[in-house]
Amino acid sequence: MNRIWDELVAYRRAHEDQPILALFDKGDRVERFGTKAGGLWLDWSKTAIDDKALELLLQLADKGGVAERREAMFAGAHINETEDRAVLHTALRNLNDAVVVDGVDVMPGVRAVHAAMSDFARKVRDGRFKGQGGAITDVVNIGIGGSDLGPKMATLALAPWHDGPRVHFVSNVDGADIADTLAPLDPATTLVIVASKTFTTIETMTNAETARRWMERAIGAAAPGQFAAVSTALDKTSAFGIDADRVFGFADWVGGRYSVWGPIGLSLMIAIGPDRFDEFLAGGAAMDAHFRATPLDQNLPVMLALVGIWHHQICGYATRAVLPYDNRLSRLPAYLQQLEMESNGKSVAMDGTPLERVSGPVVWGEPGTNGQHAFYQLIHQGTAVIPAEFMVAARGHEPDLAHQHMLLVANCLAQSEALMRGRDLEQARALMAAKGLTGAELDRQARHRVFPGNRPSTTLLFDQLTPRMLGQIIALYEHRVFVEGVILGINSFDQWGVELGKELALKVEPLLKGQDTGGHDPSTVHLAEMVWEMRGA
Ligand code: F6P
Repeated sequence: MNRIWDELVAYRRAHEDQPILALFDKGDRVERFGTKAGGLWLDWSKTAIDDKALELLLQLADKGGVAERREAMFAGAHINETEDRAVLHTALRNLNDAVVVDGVDVMPGVRAVHAAMSDFARKVRDGRFKGQGGAITDVVNIGIGGSDLGPKMATLALAPWHDGPRVHFVSNVDGADIADTLAPLDPATTLVIVASKTFTTIETMTNAETARRWMERAIGAAAPGQFAAVSTALDKTSAFGIDADRVFGFADWVGGRYSVWGPIGLSLMIAIGPDRFDEFLAGGAAMDAHFRATPLDQNLPVMLALVGIWHHQICGYATRAVLPYDNRLSRLPAYLQQLEMESNGKSVAMDGTPLERVSGPVVWGEPGTNGQHAFYQLIHQGTAVIPAEFMVAARGHEPDLAHQHMLLVANCLAQSEALMRGRDLEQARALMAAKGLTGAELDRQARHRVFPGNRPSTTLLFDQLTPRMLGQIIALYEHRVFVEGVILGINSFDQWGVELGKELALKVEPLLKGQDTGGHDPSTVHLAEMVWEMRGA
């Protein structure tokens, strides 16, 4: 492996000045540096990857054991070694095949929970399940991280299919979040879903108790009847007082950030209905089948991962911008932040030795065209190169506004072209000359209008954002993260890095109440004292 990494780095150094645009001189680049699957087309021709770089990248995937590890994952092996767990979110979206974990077929259990949540969702939607004040008008999902980001992102993305009660999401321990969410709602017609894999997460449990008090004030002892829970910890859901009929469990082999496909997706299922939810699952399953069966060089998640490795580990670009040209995908960058950064933001390899390469990049973004009027300036002319990952559907959902959708698509394509093409000094000088400028002022003004170009991007194009297409896209990114993790030797399925802050928060809280628990640094103590003073305590 080291030889391949070294060769890739040396090859990149030797060809750093090669313009991406010149790579198109070979006529068939667009077809060869693009990958398709299930109605998705990933164009990665606007990157500096050429034939030789591609050959080496594919060797990384091959020698890095991607195919073997992929099979181990689908077969239920404990590939999450630091938690000694299988990794089988894929089982949640392929309800037909048997999946054996530690000698037991887990699918009858998965199917039973899927049937129970579908039944419950139908009853909530058609009014058979009622609140004290009648049919449920609003659903509040209380969860954080993977128990919030997935359903929230997908519920917004699939808004054109909403035909159930309104769905709201509360995640932050900041009381403002729950206060603002609950304020306009009628407790007598609201269903609260407490979504927490562990049912111990402080933010979620605190918000759940706040919601329970809010509901009790209105409907008294009937309040627990309007709560449902989604968790792996069934003892804790019953201790919270939620009837087992409204508790939907899942196993520890579903990671939090991979959990939208199962009961954590209950709020989404209530919003769009079980049938549409199943189409979302079918999309995920279709991407699984593609990922599992397709040779590495035509494999969509593998190619997206190799482009990511090329930009971050080989070219050294520190961040990756995800730019969906779809307003309903506005939560996708936040969702991908958790998926990618919690999965691959590690410093040690699976065996505990320090990583030999930098780990995952910073992932960020906003939908287009909004971002164009905010941070694209830096992507075009800043000194840091930021690979951009564009995403756009050929068709929108508003037939009367098709002209606006065309404008949206045009902007998306124009941005990737502008990033690659740029504008050189001569062109900028000609522009300034045409405006009548001359001499030193022409030169000065022209320099501000130069775009370096040669900035890489990928474009993921698809027909329309349907439940099935969203399922495919999310599964694509999940497998991308997996492939990158395998090549880097990372366990992408644990998240030990979130623990320390959680522990310290529990120790800092007493400090804010004037109780010094000891062991804090002077800066933290001083800040806590200032809070104490400012609150007038
Ligand atoms: O803080 C990290 C984390 O454990 C995430 O991995 C997870 O998605 C989130 O917290 C929420 O956890 P839970 O679903 O157990 O409340």
